Amino acid sequence: MSNKGRVFSGARPTGRQHLGNYLGAIRNYVDLQEDYDCVYCIVDLHAMTTLAELQNIKPNTAEMALDWLAAGLRPEDTILFAQSHVPQVTELHTILSMFTQLGKLTDLPTFKDKVRLQPHNVNYGLVGYPVLMTADITLYKADIVPVGVDQQSHIEFAREIVRTFNYRTKRQVLIEPQMKNTDFPKVLGTDGKKKMGKSENNHIELSLTPEETNKVVSTMVTDPQRVRRTDPGNPEVCNVFTLHKYFSHDDKVASIDTECRNAGIGCVDCKRMLADELNDHLGPFRERRAELSRNPQYIWDILYDGADRAQKIASKTIAEVKSATGIA
Ligand code: TRP
Repeated sequence: MSNKGRVFSGARPTGRQHLGNYLGAIRNYVDLQEDYDCVYCIVDLHAMTTLAELQNIKPNTAEMALDWLAAGLRPEDTILFAQSHVPQVTELHTILSMFTQLGKLTDLPTFKDKVRLQPHNVNYGLVGYPVLMTADITLYKADIVPVGVDQQSHIEFAREIVRTFNYRTKRQVLIEPQMKNTDFPKVLGTDGKKKMGKSENNHIELSLTPEETNKVVSTMVTDPQRVRRTDPGNPEVCNVFTLHKYFSHDDKVASIDTECRNAGIGCVDCKRMLADELNDHLGPFRERRAELSRNPQYIWDILYDGADRAQKIASKTIAEVKSATGIA
Protein backbone atom coordinates (compact mmCIF):
# COMPACT_ATOMS: atom_id res chain seq x y z
CA MET A 1 0.00 0.00 0.00
CA SER A 2 1.05 3.58 -0.59
CA ASN A 3 1.62 6.21 2.05
CA LYS A 4 -1.76 7.86 1.79
CA GLY A 5 -3.44 7.99 5.18
CA ARG A 6 -5.18 4.83 6.27
CA VAL A 7 -8.88 4.53 7.00
CA PHE A 8 -10.30 1.69 9.06
CA SER A 9 -13.92 1.03 9.72
CA GLY A 10 -15.85 -1.89 11.09
CA ALA A 11 -19.48 -2.83 10.94
CA ARG A 12 -21.44 -5.66 12.45
CA PRO A 13 -22.67 -8.29 10.02
CA THR A 14 -26.31 -7.27 9.81
CA GLY A 15 -26.98 -8.93 6.47
CA ARG A 16 -28.61 -7.15 3.58
CA GLN A 17 -28.01 -3.43 3.80
CA HIS A 18 -30.67 -0.73 3.80
CA LEU A 19 -30.94 2.91 2.77
CA GLY A 20 -29.79 4.04 6.22
CA ASN A 21 -26.61 1.96 5.90
CA TYR A 22 -26.09 3.28 2.40
CA LEU A 23 -26.48 7.00 3.16
CA GLY A 24 -24.81 6.81 6.57
CA ALA A 25 -21.87 4.53 5.86
CA ILE A 26 -21.48 2.70 2.57
CA ARG A 27 -21.31 5.70 0.26
CA ASN A 28 -18.69 7.24 2.54
CA TYR A 29 -16.71 4.02 2.48
CA VAL A 30 -16.82 4.10 -1.31
CA ASP A 31 -15.81 7.79 -1.55
CA LEU A 32 -12.95 7.45 0.94
CA GLN A 33 -11.26 5.00 -1.44
CA GLU A 34 -10.29 7.98 -3.61
CA ASP A 35 -8.07 9.60 -0.98
CA TYR A 36 -7.06 6.86 1.43
CA ASP A 37 -5.89 3.31 1.77
CA CYS A 38 -9.01 1.72 3.14
CA VAL A 39 -9.43 -1.28 5.40
CA TYR A 40 -13.02 -2.34 5.98
CA CYS A 41 -13.85 -5.08 8.41
CA ILE A 42 -17.01 -7.04 9.05
CA VAL A 43 -16.84 -7.53 12.80
CA ASP A 44 -18.22 -11.02 13.25
CA LEU A 45 -16.58 -11.45 16.67
CA HIS A 46 -18.18 -8.27 17.97
CA ALA A 47 -21.51 -9.56 16.70
CA MET A 48 -21.26 -12.51 19.08
CA THR A 49 -21.60 -10.18 22.10
CA THR A 50 -25.25 -9.48 21.37
CA LEU A 51 -26.52 -11.88 18.78
CA ALA A 52 -28.87 -14.61 19.86
CA GLU A 53 -28.76 -16.31 16.47
CA LEU A 54 -25.13 -17.31 16.07
CA GLN A 55 -25.86 -19.24 12.90
CA ASN A 56 -26.84 -15.97 11.17
CA ILE A 57 -23.41 -14.39 11.51
CA LYS A 58 -21.79 -16.16 8.57
CA PRO A 59 -24.59 -15.69 6.01
CA ASN A 60 -25.00 -12.09 7.19
CA THR A 61 -21.29 -11.51 6.61
CA ALA A 62 -21.59 -12.71 3.01
CA GLU A 63 -24.73 -10.66 2.30
CA MET A 64 -23.19 -7.52 3.71
CA ALA A 65 -19.94 -7.95 1.78
CA LEU A 66 -21.95 -8.49 -1.37
CA ASP A 67 -23.85 -5.24 -0.87
CA TRP A 68 -20.65 -3.31 -0.18
CA LEU A 69 -18.97 -4.63 -3.29
CA ALA A 70 -22.03 -4.01 -5.45
CA ALA A 71 -22.12 -0.45 -4.09
CA GLY A 72 -18.59 0.21 -5.30
CA LEU A 73 -15.95 -1.07 -2.89
CA ARG A 74 -12.97 -2.04 -4.99
CA PRO A 75 -11.35 -5.17 -3.54
CA GLU A 76 -8.25 -4.64 -5.69
CA ASP A 77 -7.46 -1.45 -3.75
CA THR A 78 -9.39 -1.78 -0.54
CA ILE A 79 -8.88 -4.51 2.03
CA LEU A 80 -12.26 -6.04 2.81
CA PHE A 81 -12.29 -8.89 5.32
CA ALA A 82 -14.02 -10.59 8.22
CA GLN A 83 -12.66 -9.86 11.69
CA SER A 84 -12.35 -13.50 12.77
CA HIS A 85 -10.21 -14.34 9.73
CA VAL A 86 -7.33 -12.34 11.22
CA PRO A 87 -6.72 -13.94 14.63
CA GLN A 88 -3.99 -11.42 15.53
CA VAL A 89 -6.78 -9.09 16.58
CA THR A 90 -7.60 -11.31 19.55
CA GLU A 91 -3.95 -11.33 20.55
CA LEU A 92 -3.77 -7.55 20.47
CA HIS A 93 -7.07 -7.38 22.32
CA THR A 94 -5.60 -9.42 25.18
CA ILE A 95 -2.48 -7.29 25.36
CA LEU A 96 -4.44 -4.04 25.27
CA SER A 97 -6.79 -5.29 27.96
CA MET A 98 -3.85 -5.13 30.39
CA PHE A 99 -3.63 -1.40 29.69
CA THR A 100 -7.33 -0.75 30.25
CA GLN A 101 -9.02 0.00 33.55
CA LEU A 102 -12.09 -2.13 34.16
CA GLY A 103 -13.97 0.66 35.94
CA LYS A 104 -13.72 2.85 32.87
CA LEU A 105 -15.21 0.13 30.70
CA THR A 106 -18.14 -0.48 33.02
CA ASP A 107 -18.74 3.30 33.30
CA LEU A 108 -19.24 3.73 29.54
CA PRO A 109 -22.82 4.72 28.65
CA THR A 110 -22.74 2.26 25.71
CA PHE A 111 -22.00 -0.59 28.14
CA LYS A 112 -24.75 0.53 30.50
CA ASP A 113 -27.20 0.63 27.59
CA LYS A 114 -26.34 -2.94 26.70
CA VAL A 115 -26.82 -4.05 30.30
CA ARG A 116 -30.28 -2.50 30.22
CA LEU A 117 -31.06 -4.14 26.88
CA GLN A 118 -29.83 -7.63 27.73
CA PRO A 119 -29.67 -8.00 31.52
CA HIS A 120 -29.72 -11.77 31.12
CA ASN A 121 -26.54 -11.74 29.00
CA VAL A 122 -23.95 -9.35 30.38
CA ASN A 123 -21.06 -11.32 28.97
CA TYR A 124 -17.37 -10.62 29.38
CA GLY A 125 -17.08 -9.75 25.68
CA LEU A 126 -19.61 -6.99 26.13
CA VAL A 127 -17.39 -5.33 28.74
CA GLY A 128 -14.34 -5.67 26.53
CA TYR A 129 -16.13 -4.53 23.37
CA PRO A 130 -14.27 -1.18 23.17
CA VAL A 131 -10.93 -2.92 23.74
CA LEU A 132 -11.54 -5.27 20.83
CA MET A 133 -12.54 -2.24 18.77
CA THR A 134 -9.29 -0.54 19.74
CA ALA A 135 -7.42 -3.67 18.68
CA ASP A 136 -9.22 -3.55 15.30
CA ILE A 137 -8.19 0.02 14.65
CA THR A 138 -4.65 -0.03 16.00
CA LEU A 139 -3.71 -3.38 14.46
CA TYR A 140 -3.87 -1.66 11.07
CA LYS A 141 -2.36 1.62 12.32
CA ALA A 142 -5.37 3.49 11.03
CA ASP A 143 -5.30 7.29 11.10
CA ILE A 144 -8.98 7.83 10.47
CA VAL A 145 -12.09 5.97 11.53
CA PRO A 146 -15.34 6.88 9.77
CA VAL A 147 -18.24 6.05 12.10
CA GLY A 148 -21.50 7.49 13.39
CA VAL A 149 -21.71 9.63 16.54
CA ASP A 150 -22.95 6.63 18.52
CA GLN A 151 -19.35 5.34 18.30
CA GLN A 152 -17.70 8.56 19.45
CA SER A 153 -17.14 7.41 23.04
CA HIS A 154 -15.51 4.22 21.73
CA ILE A 155 -13.08 6.13 19.53
CA GLU A 156 -12.18 8.43 22.42
CA PHE A 157 -11.68 5.33 24.51
CA ALA A 158 -9.40 3.87 21.86
CA ARG A 159 -7.32 7.05 21.88
CA GLU A 160 -6.95 6.77 25.62
CA ILE A 161 -5.80 3.15 25.45
CA VAL A 162 -3.26 4.11 22.78
CA ARG A 163 -1.91 6.96 24.89
CA THR A 164 -1.61 4.70 27.93
CA PHE A 165 0.08 1.98 25.92
CA ASN A 166 2.54 4.32 24.27
CA TYR A 167 3.30 6.07 27.55
CA ARG A 168 3.85 2.91 29.57
CA THR A 169 5.94 1.19 26.92
CA LYS A 170 7.84 4.43 26.18
CA ARG A 171 7.47 3.72 22.47
CA GLN A 172 5.17 5.24 19.92
CA VAL A 173 4.11 1.95 18.38
CA LEU A 174 0.37 2.57 18.21
CA ILE A 175 -1.38 5.41 16.40
CA GLU A 176 -4.08 7.55 18.03
CA PRO A 177 -6.97 7.40 15.56
CA GLN A 178 -9.08 10.37 14.54
CA MET A 179 -12.82 9.96 14.26
CA LYS A 180 -14.60 11.12 11.13
CA ASN A 181 -18.32 11.52 11.69
CA THR A 182 -20.32 9.99 8.88
CA ASP A 183 -23.74 10.46 10.43
CA PHE A 184 -25.06 12.88 7.84
CA PRO A 185 -27.90 12.48 7.37
CA LYS A 186 -29.65 10.65 10.16
CA VAL A 187 -31.95 8.52 8.06
CA LEU A 188 -35.36 7.79 9.51
CA GLY A 189 -37.29 4.63 8.78
CA THR A 190 -40.61 4.01 7.06
CA ASP A 191 -42.37 4.98 10.33
CA GLY A 192 -40.95 8.50 9.90
CA LYS A 193 -39.98 8.48 13.60
CA LYS A 194 -37.11 6.21 14.48
CA LYS A 195 -33.70 5.85 12.89
CA MET A 196 -33.88 3.34 10.04
CA GLY A 197 -32.80 -0.07 11.27
CA LYS A 198 -33.35 -3.73 10.69
CA SER A 199 -34.24 -4.32 14.34
CA GLU A 200 -36.95 -1.65 14.11
CA ASN A 201 -38.28 -3.30 10.97
CA ASN A 202 -38.66 0.15 9.41
CA HIS A 203 -35.96 -0.29 6.80
CA ILE A 204 -35.81 -0.32 3.00
CA GLU A 205 -33.29 -2.84 1.72
CA LEU A 206 -31.13 -1.85 -1.23
CA SER A 207 -31.49 -5.24 -2.88
CA LEU A 208 -35.30 -5.35 -3.02
CA THR A 209 -36.90 -5.79 -6.42
CA PRO A 210 -38.59 -2.70 -7.93
CA GLU A 211 -41.99 -4.18 -7.03
CA GLU A 212 -40.93 -4.78 -3.43
CA THR A 213 -39.54 -1.26 -3.27
CA ASN A 214 -42.83 0.22 -4.50
CA LYS A 215 -44.67 -1.74 -1.86
CA VAL A 216 -42.48 -0.73 1.10
CA VAL A 217 -42.33 2.91 0.01
CA SER A 218 -46.13 2.97 -0.25
CA THR A 219 -46.31 2.12 3.48
CA MET A 220 -44.12 5.08 4.50
CA VAL A 221 -45.55 7.49 7.05
CA THR A 222 -45.72 11.05 5.67
CA ASP A 223 -46.68 14.38 7.25
CA PRO A 224 -49.10 13.38 10.07
CA GLN A 225 -50.92 16.77 9.78
CA ARG A 226 -51.92 16.03 6.25
CA VAL A 227 -54.99 13.86 6.61
CA ARG A 228 -57.00 14.52 3.43
CA ARG A 229 -55.64 14.66 -0.08
CA THR A 230 -56.76 18.33 -0.26
CA ASP A 231 -54.89 19.35 2.92
CA PRO A 232 -51.73 21.37 2.27
CA GLY A 233 -48.63 19.38 3.28
CA ASN A 234 -45.50 20.25 5.23
CA PRO A 235 -42.54 18.71 3.42
CA GLU A 236 -40.10 19.77 6.13
CA VAL A 237 -41.61 17.22 8.53
CA CYS A 238 -42.02 14.46 5.94
CA ASN A 239 -39.50 11.65 5.70
CA VAL A 240 -40.54 10.85 2.13
CA PHE A 241 -39.54 14.38 1.19
CA THR A 242 -36.25 13.99 3.07
CA LEU A 243 -35.45 10.93 0.98
CA HIS A 244 -36.38 12.82 -2.20
CA LYS A 245 -33.67 15.29 -1.24
CA TYR A 246 -31.08 12.51 -1.44
CA PHE A 247 -32.31 10.73 -4.52
CA SER A 248 -34.14 13.26 -6.73
CA HIS A 249 -32.76 16.15 -8.78
CA ASP A 250 -32.92 19.63 -7.25
CA ASP A 251 -35.61 20.89 -9.65
CA LYS A 252 -37.78 17.89 -8.88
CA VAL A 253 -37.30 18.40 -5.15
CA ALA A 254 -38.27 22.07 -5.55
CA SER A 255 -41.42 21.20 -7.48
CA ILE A 256 -42.43 18.51 -4.96
CA ASP A 257 -41.95 21.07 -2.20
CA THR A 258 -44.27 23.55 -3.92
CA GLU A 259 -46.85 21.01 -5.07
CA CYS A 260 -47.03 19.35 -1.64
CA ARG A 261 -47.59 22.70 0.09
CA ASN A 262 -50.47 23.64 -2.20
CA ALA A 263 -51.92 20.11 -2.31
CA GLY A 264 -51.11 19.85 -6.03
CA ILE A 265 -49.77 16.37 -5.39
CA GLY A 266 -50.83 13.88 -2.75
CA CYS A 267 -48.67 11.63 -0.60
CA VAL A 268 -49.44 8.64 -2.82
CA ASP A 269 -48.05 10.50 -5.85
CA CYS A 270 -45.03 11.63 -3.90
CA LYS A 271 -44.26 8.11 -2.70
CA ARG A 272 -44.67 6.68 -6.17
CA MET A 273 -42.13 9.21 -7.45
CA LEU A 274 -39.74 8.30 -4.65
CA ALA A 275 -40.02 4.59 -5.42
CA ASP A 276 -39.25 5.36 -9.09
CA GLU A 277 -36.19 7.40 -8.13
CA LEU A 278 -34.94 4.68 -5.81
CA ASN A 279 -35.43 2.01 -8.44
CA ASP A 280 -33.55 4.13 -11.00
CA HIS A 281 -30.77 4.95 -8.62
CA LEU A 282 -30.35 1.39 -7.37
CA GLY A 283 -30.69 -0.28 -10.76
CA PRO A 284 -26.95 -0.57 -11.48
CA PHE A 285 -26.30 -1.69 -7.89
CA ARG A 286 -28.90 -4.43 -8.18
CA GLU A 287 -27.55 -5.67 -11.49
CA ARG A 288 -24.06 -5.84 -10.12
CA ARG A 289 -25.25 -7.60 -7.00
CA ALA A 290 -27.07 -10.21 -9.04
CA GLU A 291 -23.97 -10.73 -11.15
CA LEU A 292 -21.67 -11.11 -8.13
CA SER A 293 -24.01 -13.48 -6.35
CA ARG A 294 -24.08 -15.87 -9.26
CA ASN A 295 -20.95 -17.48 -7.84
CA PRO A 296 -21.40 -17.85 -4.05
CA GLN A 297 -17.72 -18.72 -3.62
CA TYR A 298 -16.64 -15.37 -5.07
CA ILE A 299 -17.47 -13.40 -1.95
CA TRP A 300 -15.47 -15.75 0.27
CA ASP A 301 -12.52 -15.58 -2.11
CA ILE A 302 -12.59 -11.79 -1.79
CA LEU A 303 -12.87 -11.95 2.00
CA TYR A 304 -10.03 -14.48 2.36
CA ASP A 305 -7.82 -12.48 0.03
CA GLY A 306 -8.60 -9.40 2.14
CA ALA A 307 -7.71 -11.36 5.29
CA ASP A 308 -4.35 -12.37 3.77
CA ARG A 309 -3.47 -8.78 3.03
CA ALA A 310 -4.74 -7.66 6.44
CA GLN A 311 -2.59 -10.31 8.16
CA LYS A 312 0.58 -8.92 6.58
CA ILE A 313 -0.02 -5.59 8.33
CA ALA A 314 -1.31 -7.27 11.48
CA SER A 315 1.67 -9.53 12.10
CA LYS A 316 4.04 -6.61 11.78
CA THR A 317 2.10 -4.59 14.33
CA ILE A 318 1.89 -7.52 16.74
CA ALA A 319 5.65 -8.01 16.56
CA GLU A 320 6.21 -4.33 17.35
CA VAL A 321 3.68 -4.41 20.17
CA LYS A 322 5.26 -7.46 21.76
CA SER A 323 8.68 -5.94 21.51
CA ALA A 324 7.43 -2.68 23.02
CA THR A 325 5.94 -4.50 26.00
CA GLY A 326 9.19 -6.35 26.53
CA ILE A 327 7.72 -9.85 26.23
CA ALA A 328 9.45 -10.44 22.92
N1 TRP B 1 -18.71 -0.89 17.22
C1 TRP B 1 -18.97 -0.59 15.86
C2 TRP B 1 -20.50 -0.51 15.64
O1 TRP B 1 -21.23 -1.11 16.37
C3 TRP B 1 -18.37 -1.60 14.92
C4 TRP B 1 -16.90 -1.65 15.03
C5 TRP B 1 -16.15 -2.67 15.56
C6 TRP B 1 -15.98 -0.65 14.60
N2 TRP B 1 -14.83 -2.37 15.45
C7 TRP B 1 -14.69 -1.15 14.88
C8 TRP B 1 -16.14 0.60 14.00
C9 TRP B 1 -13.56 -0.41 14.58
C10 TRP B 1 -15.00 1.34 13.72
C11 TRP B 1 -13.73 0.84 14.01
O2 TRP B 1 -20.91 0.14 14.71
